[in-house]
Amino acid sequence: MNYVQLEKLGKCMPPSFCHLAYPVVQGRSRTTNEIVALKEIHLDAEEGTPSTAIREISLMKELKHVNIVRLHDVIHTETKLVLIFEFCEQDLKKYMDQHGERGALDLNTVRSFMYQLLKGTAFCHENQVLHRDLKPQNLLINRKGELKLGDFGLARAFGVPVNTFSNEVVTLWYRAPDVLLGSRTYSTSIDVWSCGCIFAEMISGLPLFRGRDNHDQLLHIMRIIGTPSQQTFDKMAKDSPEIQIKQFPRYPKQDLRAVIPKASAQGKLIRAMPIDLLERLLKFDPAERISAAEALSHPYFTSAVQNSTFTVGSMAPPSFTFPHPHGLPPPQQQQQQAYNRMAMQQQQQQQAAMGGGYGGVPMHYTHGHNPR
Ligand SMILES: Nc1ncnc2c1ncn2[C@@H]1O[C@H](COP(=O)(O)OP(=O)(O)OP(=O)(O)O)[C@@H](O)[C@H]1O
Ligand SMILES: [Mg+2]
Repeated sequence: MNYVQLEKLGKCMPPSFCHLAYPVVQGRSRTTNEIVALKEIHLDAEEGTPSTAIREISLMKELKHVNIVRLHDVIHTETKLVLIFEFCEQDLKKYMDQHGERGALDLNTVRSFMYQLLKGTAFCHENQVLHRDLKPQNLLINRKGELKLGDFGLARAFGVPVNTFSNEVVTLWYRAPDVLLGSRTYSTSIDVWSCGCIFAEMISGLPLFRGRDNHDQLLHIMRIIGTPSQQTFDKMAKDSPEIQIKQFPRYPKQDLRAVIPKASAQGKLIRAMPIDLLERLLKFDPAERISAAEALSHPYFTSAVQNSTFTVGSMAPPSFTFPHPHGLPPPQQQQQQAYNRMAMQQQQQQQAAMGGGYGGVPMHYTHGHNPR
């Protein structure tokens, strides 16, 4: 093999949580000396290559983006399949355990990781791919502070006409309520829900909804974001006829600022922003959830009032202006865009200062619009 194996990286979660029991090891290319991650998939002589592996390979080969872990190569032997990925130092779970304060990350890091998470997710969605298993263990962080979506074993292209999807997707704590209720016609909004859960977890250091099983998970969600009205349930059941609506206790919506106090522990001008974005990501009805592309233009990211000092470890501040995978616009246009952004930010600052906060900032969520 062209790669030397170095050390073991991945440890699968206990079997009940784990859909693929493949070891992930660090390796080095004999030809380029580049450090890589090797994911081994053992082949069953009778069953052949597992469908999850085929899915992961074919999807990942097409998805080239700075926020998606790059699949360099695939080695196929008689007994195993080895996927060669770009190497990332840590996954987000380990990163939070090591760098966070009891798991909670500082708010500048949260903002950078959240932006990159949404950027990678929006790129998948633009390319007709649902990730379907977004969680901290499946997000990789490299030395440069770049966050990358990994583990596409459960991903699935949704552009081709599909009737229904499997209901057994997304690790329970990050699973959207529509999927928990039995939806099989879900779409990009299921990844957006997981992004919301990850956002809250990065801020507080703890998973937001920690249910024991499907039903308990729904109750955990409703206790925080409130039990939806009968009207909302009926609408959801109309949109996805497989949804089973049972009787649920009527929980009032809680103030997220009280649930995640750290989210509003910043300066007066910006403290409403993370909460506002979180609320838009965590809408019970998938039709009301913001899209990943729309979320990227939320003032939480576009406002310049944030203090951007980066204090975690020795990592350089991740750049918010990643090259777009389809190439950058000509320099003149870039300059104009940068100017427009600055003008918009200045205007927002002035309005926020006059209006005493974020309430004065106009927000436009035109579908699919992403100024970056
Ligand atoms: N490119 C990589 N660079 C560094 N570490 C990696 C890389 N890919 C995966 N890992 C590590 O291995 C772990 C398991 O990888 P991955 O999520 O791809 O496999 P998995 O077997 O599907 O795990 P699970 O089913 O528990 O999600 C990751 O959580 C991460 O810690
Ligand atoms: Mg995984």
